[in-house]
Amino acid sequence: MTSIQLHVNGTAVQADAEPATLLVDLLRGPLGLTGTHVGCDTSQCGACTVLLDGRAVKSCTVLAVQAAGRSVTTVEGLAAPGGALHPVQDAFIACHGLQCGFCTPGMMMTATCLLQHNPDPSDDEVAHALEGNLCRCTGYVNIVAAVQVAAKTLRTQQAGEAA
Ligand code: FES
Ligand code: FES
Repeated sequence: MTSIQLHVNGTAVQADAEPATLLVDLLRGPLGLTGTHVGCDTSQCGACTVLLDGRAVKSCTVLAVQAAGRSVTTVEGLAAPGGALHPVQDAFIACHGLQCGFCTPGMMMTATCLLQHNPDPSDDEVAHALEGNLCRCTGYVNIVAAVQVAAKTLRTQQAGEAA
């Protein structure tokens, strides 16, 4: 076992991990953050996507020890401390961007990363960004629409803050 320290959703945490422990298993197990899902064993589905130092990664492809000293954001960390939903979460609800919801945490984390780096993406850019996230329910149309609504909300918020 190795003792590692990392920041998860803005909080410093310490955890013990075996050398081969995957980040997703650390999050879902000892840290109790079960919003990060496991949908495959081939690193294809994207349900396990989290932000690692602000970049979307599939947490089933990262060793827990590789996250030592780094910042991890899971879907539980998207909402504001007071509980107000993040614009990406609001938009997925408003646009019916989910059905069973299994893929949704990963979709939202990938979308959040995209919008942090590209605040005004085209539909093709949204689709490209979400290529690593599979959904077996929605057909993706409403997911792309949700990301565009979230993008618009975030741009409006940023314009208001800059004014
Ligand atoms: Fe499917 Fe990680 S669990 S990509
Ligand atoms: Fe069911 Fe995407 S909403 S897998």
